[in-house]
Amino acid sequence: MTALSASSVLLEELSRRAPDGVWSAPGRVNLIGEHTDYNDGFVLPFAIEHRTYAAVALNGTGELRVRSTFADETVVVAVDDLDDLFPTPTGATPRVPEWAAYVLGVAWALREARPDATTPGADIAIASDVPVGAGLSSSAAIEGAVASALNDLWALDLDRVALAQVGRRAENDAVGAPTGIMDQMASMLGRPDAATLLDCRSLETRSVSTGFSDADLELVVVDTQIKHAHSTGGYRDRREACERAARLLGVPALRDLSIDDLPQAAELLDDVTFRRVRHVVTENQRVLDTVDALTQRGPRAIAGLLQASHASMRDDFEISVPELDMAVELTMTHGAVGARMTGGGFGGAAIALVGNGQLSAVSDALRRGFASAGFKEPAIFTVSPSEGARRDR
Ligand code: GLA
Repeated sequence: MTALSASSVLLEELSRRAPDGVWSAPGRVNLIGEHTDYNDGFVLPFAIEHRTYAAVALNGTGELRVRSTFADETVVVAVDDLDDLFPTPTGATPRVPEWAAYVLGVAWALREARPDATTPGADIAIASDVPVGAGLSSSAAIEGAVASALNDLWALDLDRVALAQVGRRAENDAVGAPTGIMDQMASMLGRPDAATLLDCRSLETRSVSTGFSDADLELVVVDTQIKHAHSTGGYRDRREACERAARLLGVPALRDLSIDDLPQAAELLDDVTFRRVRHVVTENQRVLDTVDALTQRGPRAIAGLLQASHASMRDDFEISVPELDMAVELTMTHGAVGARMTGGGFGGAAIALVGNGQLSAVSDALRRGFASAGFKEPAIFTVSPSEGARRDR
């Protein structure tokens, strides 16, 4: 059964009637620009064909009743009680199961964005084919699907950028993951033919054609099966280090530094903090250089930038893991044009730009290499730029 049908079937079980509609939003890969979003910098993601579906029906009560294929439970909360549940205090876990915090957090953040609106009860059923914990933004996909559904059914009239901000608010303040806005913007604004250059300070966007298929290239995802969570651990540490460095260097955000500022930063900061800064500053430049290379010379010209990005994350930002490094090395030695880890790191997926017809040789090499290193078998599949959030039915 497709995830679209699964969401409808689940809703019918919950509500004993057909949904008022089904909405969906995609996961994403990030071509380049990692840990730059919360530093007010640049990113270049695109939405992928894997999507999360929300089948929704207004239920004539004052309650939200939420189900998903992830868990065998129905979570019920009065709409007026959302303000008691959220925001989740910093460092605490949400008072509802985490999968439900994404859904209910979006409902809460929508009400915060439109406090004047009438927000009646609804039944919401979620099903997804975005791999969870793979660094492909399964969470932004849930947020985008639910935000789009309630925006329509509650007649809120928020635009796509406002809905992305609602998704981020849910992620930050309801789930408690201190992420930036890249994933929600990619999921809301995706286009079937292009990546999105996003300025995370102004939220201005520009579509950038990838040109992969014209150049006979495919983008391969290697999901290492190492799960990560951004609400705890390394992601939060990296973000705090960046904010501390910006304060020490006297700038609003690391976005405000250029490569020419690095020698002075090296004098003022300890070695680890300096390397965190160097990653962000050089990565911002690599995003802009990637856009220039793609538009002027085509996708084969971005190889060196992808490699440099991975090395910077591995050595300066220290967010890679051996499985991701192996995925990058093996795809490169088996003919990939370029490869890097994608997403927040500490697990998740790598991407590799591979010539048409080379996928099976690359996959075999990856499976063999991972097995002989004693790693889990990776999931390997191709993705291409896809449409952002939409109403499906
Ligand atoms: C995660 C976060 C994003 C971004 C990336 C790293 O995907 O959700 O906001 O910070 O990590 O680039």
